[in-house]
Amino acid sequence: MATATLSASGAASCIFIILAATTMSMATSYSYARETSSRSCIAAERAALLSFKTSMTSDLAKRLDSWRGHHCCQWSGVTCNNRTGQVVKLSLRNAFIKEDKKFVWCMPHGESGGLEGKISSSLLALQHLKHLDLSGNNLGGLGVTIPKFLGSIKSLTYLNLACMNFDGGVPPQLGNLSRLLHLNLEASVFSDTLLHSDDISWLSRLGLLRSLDMSGVNLSTIPDWVRVVTIVPSLEVLQLSQCGLSLQHEPIVHSNLSSLQVLDLYSNRIDTLNPTYWFWDVLIIKELDLSSNKIVGQLPDAIGNMTSLQTLRLGGNYLSGVKSELFKNLCNLSWLELWSNEINQDMSDFMEGFPACTKSKLWSLDLSATNLTGRIPSSIKQWKHLSDLQLSDNRLVGSIPLGLGKMTNLRSLILNNNQLNGSVSEEHFASLVYLMELSLSHNPVHITISSNWIPAFNLEVAHFASTKMGPHFPLWLKGQKDIWDLDISDTGIVDLVPVWFWTVFSNVSYVNISCNQISGRLPATLEFMTSAQMLDLNSNDFTGLLPLLPESLLFLDISRNSLSGPLPQDFGATMLRERVLFANHINGTIPIYVCQLQYMEVLDLSENLLVGQLPQCSKGRDDKEELNTTVDPGNRLLSALILHNNNLSGKFPEFCNTVHF
Ligand SMILES: *[C@@H]1O[C@H](CO)[C@@H](O)[C@H](O)[C@H]1NC(C)=O
Ligand SMILES: *[C@@H]1O[C@H](CO)[C@@H](O)[C@H](O)[C@H]1NC(C)=O
Ligand SMILES: *[C@@H]1O[C@H](CO)[C@@H](O)[C@H](O)[C@H]1NC(C)=O
Ligand SMILES: *[C@@H]1O[C@H](CO)[C@@H](O)[C@H](O)[C@H]1NC(C)=O
Ligand SMILES: *[C@@H]1O[C@H](CO)[C@@H](O)[C@H](O)[C@H]1NC(C)=O
Repeated sequence: MATATLSASGAASCIFIILAATTMSMATSYSYARETSSRSCIAAERAALLSFKTSMTSDLAKRLDSWRGHHCCQWSGVTCNNRTGQVVKLSLRNAFIKEDKKFVWCMPHGESGGLEGKISSSLLALQHLKHLDLSGNNLGGLGVTIPKFLGSIKSLTYLNLACMNFDGGVPPQLGNLSRLLHLNLEASVFSDTLLHSDDISWLSRLGLLRSLDMSGVNLSTIPDWVRVVTIVPSLEVLQLSQCGLSLQHEPIVHSNLSSLQVLDLYSNRIDTLNPTYWFWDVLIIKELDLSSNKIVGQLPDAIGNMTSLQTLRLGGNYLSGVKSELFKNLCNLSWLELWSNEINQDMSDFMEGFPACTKSKLWSLDLSATNLTGRIPSSIKQWKHLSDLQLSDNRLVGSIPLGLGKMTNLRSLILNNNQLNGSVSEEHFASLVYLMELSLSHNPVHITISSNWIPAFNLEVAHFASTKMGPHFPLWLKGQKDIWDLDISDTGIVDLVPVWFWTVFSNVSYVNISCNQISGRLPATLEFMTSAQMLDLNSNDFTGLLPLLPESLLFLDISRNSLSGPLPQDFGATMLRERVLFANHINGTIPIYVCQLQYMEVLDLSENLLVGQLPQCSKGRDDKEELNTTVDPGNRLLSALILHNNNLSGKFPEFCNTVHF
């Protein structure tokens, strides 16, 4: 179920799903810079491009629409040499790929609207092509390998084939591209296809290569991968996340990677960090990502000599007893992730171990799920530059220091799942004008913000679950129109829902106000909440009819309220996966409309006053005409249909797989 939980540890994929959902709807246009040239292009090259276009089977975004007429240098995505008219650059990148390297994922195939078809070998005619970017287009598919002939476009210095859904082995012919500076073969780990390589020795022939990204390519059968990549002397950026790599236990002391600045080994199978590993020698590394591996034991002292480090990601491992003294020479550090390891220390002591330069420079600190104990020190206010502070899932106690309110750069403050108590007032947030994400959930804190307070911030994510906020509805939320994820469940609110609630939060994706005593009638329709995916209103005192639901809704829970009246004949929300309405006073019959909810997995209407027969949803394609719809009425996903304690009668329908009474 797609909930809004942004719990720190292991939630990367969860975050991705949310981002992806918003990216898909927002990234609608991508304008290509149109290079103009006084010359019309070379006839043979134009023919090659037209042949490329002809071998496309789909171009939903109409990227190649301008590919007509003689002036191929003016076609979108095509760049020619001004003087000679030769095509030097072909840039057809599909912009749906996410750029943010924190979440290295290609969009799953099929949802991107990119080009589809086959790459024509006519491209070989572009003898002066330096830059080829086809990333994000679905030009692969099951059984379709990266074309070998690309290894013969000798002029290439830049080749980007990321996220194209290729399958099978990476062709060693790419090793013939001896002028390459940048090579990107990143593959989606969500795809049906699997790009792999059993031999990457061809990389050693790319003597000029500066950046290599083979993230998501299965390299697990190459035990000596380190030996190969460390031969490429000019590498500055090496990205091998999610490749199934492990590190050999015998150390490789020397490496030729004297220029390496970025090393990304996120989500591999590395289990130890030997103090003599090659990358400790590369003292100019600025970005090191070893997160989500299986590293056990202590963090080697050698890390303290990597003084160029700006970003260090070690989260999601089994490191024990991480000491902040190790970082005392890392004065350039601006991003530190240690989440889901063991620090096992008092937070004040841990924070004191950092040098003054780090305290004033660090921008992002993630210490969630590290078994930190003690209080949040009031000296936290010295960390002036901090923008993201994540301390969730620890054993922190005591009150939240007022000093936090002086950290004016804070954008994200995540403190959920600790034992913080005391009260949280306006003063805690007075200067936090940039705060966007605030999570205090599951702490016994008392939120004593007064109703008429107008915050300086505009929250997007607000989590207060299982804190003490009530008994009055927190009226200060009224101005927080940018919230897309709101959780004020189980906060002791005993009040009428304010009339503005539904309109102020009309843009939310996730709302959880369950387990309070919030009363009032629900609006007749919630269709205007066009982004809503989850509405959890369970265990309150809502009355009135079931509203018409937003089309976007996936999860609805209004159980244990006092809704009455019949179900609407057509309540919207055709994508609904889970709908829970038990323990209300709903009467009337179950509308045939439920048959059309083809994604429904759980439907719970128990403990209501429903009467009559269950709708006899038609089983198969034969009856399709009858329903006058393209929706296949045979619901194959339904796994729980819960109906007890009603007054239903008649024959049991045949449309579900498993039924739980
Ligand atoms: C390109 O590379 C392949 C395999 O590495 C090799 O067999 C072939 O001779 C090379 N072709 C050219 C034209 O250099
Ligand atoms: C990677 O390849 C190895 C060896 O072929 C295989 O056992 C493994 O399941 C593959 N990994 C993934 C994620 O497909
Ligand atoms: C490193 O580079 C030097 C000179 O470029 C070369 O002689 C040596 O063999 C290289 N070492 C490795 C391990 O590739
Ligand atoms: C760190 O660098 C210093 C000075 O170069 C060196 O003496 C020391 O052995 C290094 N420490 C580690 C753990 O590599
Ligand atoms: C958490 O840290 C304490 C010391 O502060 C230690 O006694 C305890 O065993 C740790 N718990 C876990 C689960 O590592």
